Amino acid sequence: MTGNSLPLKPCRSILSVPGHMVKLHPKAAAGKADVIMLDLEDSVPADKKKDAREIVSHSLLAIDWQEKTLAVRINSLDTPFAYKDVIQVTEAAGNVIDYIVLPKIGHAGDIHFLARLLDGIEMEKKIHKKIAIEAAIESAAGLEQVGSIARADRRLRSLSFGVADYTASIGAKLVSLSGHGESETAIYPGHRWHYPISRMVMAAKANGLLAMDAPFGNFKDSKGLENAAAMAAALGCDGKWVIHPDQIEIVNKAFTPSPEEIGRAKQILDAMSAAGALSQGAIAVNGQMVDLATARLAERVWNQARHLGLVEKYH
Ligand code: COA
Ligand code: MG
Repeated sequence: MTGNSLPLKPCRSILSVPGHMVKLHPKAAAGKADVIMLDLEDSVPADKKKDAREIVSHSLLAIDWQEKTLAVRINSLDTPFAYKDVIQVTEAAGNVIDYIVLPKIGHAGDIHFLARLLDGIEMEKKIHKKIAIEAAIESAAGLEQVGSIARADRRLRSLSFGVADYTASIGAKLVSLSGHGESETAIYPGHRWHYPISRMVMAAKANGLLAMDAPFGNFKDSKGLENAAAMAAALGCDGKWVIHPDQIEIVNKAFTPSPEEIGRAKQILDAMSAAGALSQGAIAVNGQMVDLATARLAERVWNQARHLGLVEKYH
């Protein structure tokens, strides 16, 4: 999978599931998250890292994950765990892994390393599809290099912005454990994380990648999550990580085009095609100017709705 052939399956909600907590795995499979990310990194204590690799490999193969996209988050490359995470889990279950999430990425070399390692494992294990990579941007170094990271390899499918580690990386004041969207205005007017998220989204979209937002930690606060997800969608993110099943529906909704948005998109596409305006430029629809840029936005909404099975292909 590459930036030029983005996955057709929806990627609105990405449920993080601690790798060593085997009981949670079938629950995740039975739920409504678009993507399941089996985690080997920060939700797994150091003395469980080894067990987690074995449990994750087993779950990947043994559970019926239905149509879900499957991801594994490995530990960062500056730990003693990462190389074994990749080798053991991909050798055992590479055929069913859609992508690997590489956390705390610092520069494009991290992607090159992982991509070459995957080349060898796929050849040795006769894995016929290419396992994709998501690069988690969660440090000042990663954000500074985000353009070259996004261009590093054709295996890249997405970038994600990890606000918790990024906050620590830049030494910014901590006001909440929930990621962005909670108590932020108490210390800064506006959206404190607007720049890094937008910068990450820009690098992702310029290279045909998806952009993902980090989870909202306070899983009891559904209003706060709704707000944070709406802001991420407004900034151009395609989906958001979640950590608890109660968060899935809220996030799916935030990243699903509403009937009104779909209706408006159809109206614009119909008007443009009736006017033959794709070659002509601007026209008026309901007293508003519509041009090729608006048509592209409408087309994007339509395609998202089509991927979710809400509408047919637009002719
Ligand atoms: N995946 C699958 N199932 C989950 C889940 C998850 N991430 N989080 C909770 N559940 C299940 C629970 O097992 C429980 O199931 P049950 O009703 O059959 O017993 C149900 O959802 C309700 O859970 P609840 O009791 O409200 O939460 P908790 O106190 O058990 O767990 C957390 C709270 C935060 C510890 C837990 O949600 C979790 O570990 N989340 C993932 C953390 C993570 O991945 N961190 C890295 C983030 S990037
Ligand atoms: Mg992190």
